[in-house]
Amino acid sequence: MAVCVAQIYCWEGLAGGKGVNRSQHAPGPKAGLGIRDLLSFRRDPIAFLQNLASHHGDVTHFRLGWKNAFLLNHPDLVHEFLVTHAPSHLRGPVMQRSRAIMGDGLLTSEDPMHAAQRRLIQPAFHRDRITRHATVMAKYTSNMCARWRPGEIIELRKEMMSLTLAILGKTLFDTPISEDASEIGEAVTELMALVDLVFVPFSRYLPLPGLRRLKRVRARLDRLIYGLIDERLRSGVDHGDLLSMLLQSAGEKSASAIRQVRDECLTILLAGHETIANALAYALFLLAQHYDCAEKVRIEVEKIAGQRELGAEDFDRLTFTRAALAESMRLYPPVWVLGRGITQPCSVGPYTAPAGSILFVSQYLLHRDSRFFHEPLRFHPERFLENSPTQRFAYFPFGIGPRRCIGEGFAWMEGVLALATITRKWNIELLHETKLVLDAKITLRPKFPIQVKLTPAQQKATSGAQTTCEEHASERVTARLAAS
Ligand code: HEM
Repeated sequence: MAVCVAQIYCWEGLAGGKGVNRSQHAPGPKAGLGIRDLLSFRRDPIAFLQNLASHHGDVTHFRLGWKNAFLLNHPDLVHEFLVTHAPSHLRGPVMQRSRAIMGDGLLTSEDPMHAAQRRLIQPAFHRDRITRHATVMAKYTSNMCARWRPGEIIELRKEMMSLTLAILGKTLFDTPISEDASEIGEAVTELMALVDLVFVPFSRYLPLPGLRRLKRVRARLDRLIYGLIDERLRSGVDHGDLLSMLLQSAGEKSASAIRQVRDECLTILLAGHETIANALAYALFLLAQHYDCAEKVRIEVEKIAGQRELGAEDFDRLTFTRAALAESMRLYPPVWVLGRGITQPCSVGPYTAPAGSILFVSQYLLHRDSRFFHEPLRFHPERFLENSPTQRFAYFPFGIGPRRCIGEGFAWMEGVLALATITRKWNIELLHETKLVLDAKITLRPKFPIQVKLTPAQQKATSGAQTTCEEHASERVTARLAAS
């Protein structure tokens, strides 16, 4: 059952939409009770939003159950939504509900606490720090590549999840967290599945099996994070990483201060590895279909670094590799939709959304909009090199405004170095049966394992499964599967 951040806003949280407003005049499907829209949204949220935008234009009003909802589908509206009106928006119920696991970390907290915590954590993501992490990023990727064998079939996303978790553990917590990879991966999956629960009215109060799983996930994650904290407190050594920084700020180490450290660590752990793992998996999947682009990456790496290991100093010169990653995140944005709740009436373009409405913008929709991207379904990294006249705010994989991703610089460094390191060593070949079907949950995840075959980069791919990304377009495949 596909559920996304957006869906959760429908059921709980902000005050219901009362009072009259100009929302009645915003185009949209016939209002009714909102049940039909709700079910369509739940079945296939991407297809539902795409359908709204193509039929009703840049501002669409629809009903999700008893809630007013608006889809904003123009870069100017993205700016208005995420920057101009940001101070009057609240995190929606999905983030409120996620607090049951994540506590009051950066993703879930509201101002003024959010602004204070963001100021505190920001130095851990300063460019100098990220530059220092580059060696680990490249080294860990090289180690992974060295473990792979010619002809081996791997599951792309699983490999990327282990890699990005290991890098995050080492750089921000100075810990070999990857030993807990399967447990954390499982916890993330359960967290996403538990999002389904929020969709069930009064789920908070029902003895649902999902709630028991929620408690188990939380206990496992607590054991892990508090274990890291205790060890660090016992040793008293300053590792100069995020964990030490947070502990220093915890002053007297009261229970509530330690609790806050736990919340921030867990948030970074959960927000900081699945997103970039998905981005890398999609990028490698696309390069597997576009041998010419993979070759361009190889030529670029060879020219810049020869045979030596890559490092931070190469980042700015890996321009094509970066463009390939940017283009992958255009087609498959790891965070595909952003939703906010409003407690006060708020203008949305020429209309006014009433208090209690849910507002959405979708990276997936705008990144594939032919008004802003020429041949939008084509994988064409050069568009990010050509200084293309792309409208500002039509491309926003990391969000914009005060809640913009704090890990963006980290993600670019890691993504570019990992993509270059893997591609220089290995050809990723799709198997004939490999299909990419998207699962639009909090993040945009592949629904099924992406099995690929490895051949050394010097050897040209032989499987012949070099399909185009359009053939794998999620919504069509999903619709086909749903219909079958
Ligand atoms: C390709 C990788 C990534 C993508 C596409 C991505 C995307 C995003 C987006 C779109 C948001 C904004 C959410 C909103 O406006 O509601 C966000 C927030 C956030 N991201 Fe990322 N992210 C990535 C990697 C990372 C990494 C590597 C870290 C940490 C190591 C991280 C930590 C966070 C945190 C803590 C927030 C909350 C920021 C705040 O509310 O102040 N992300 N991310």
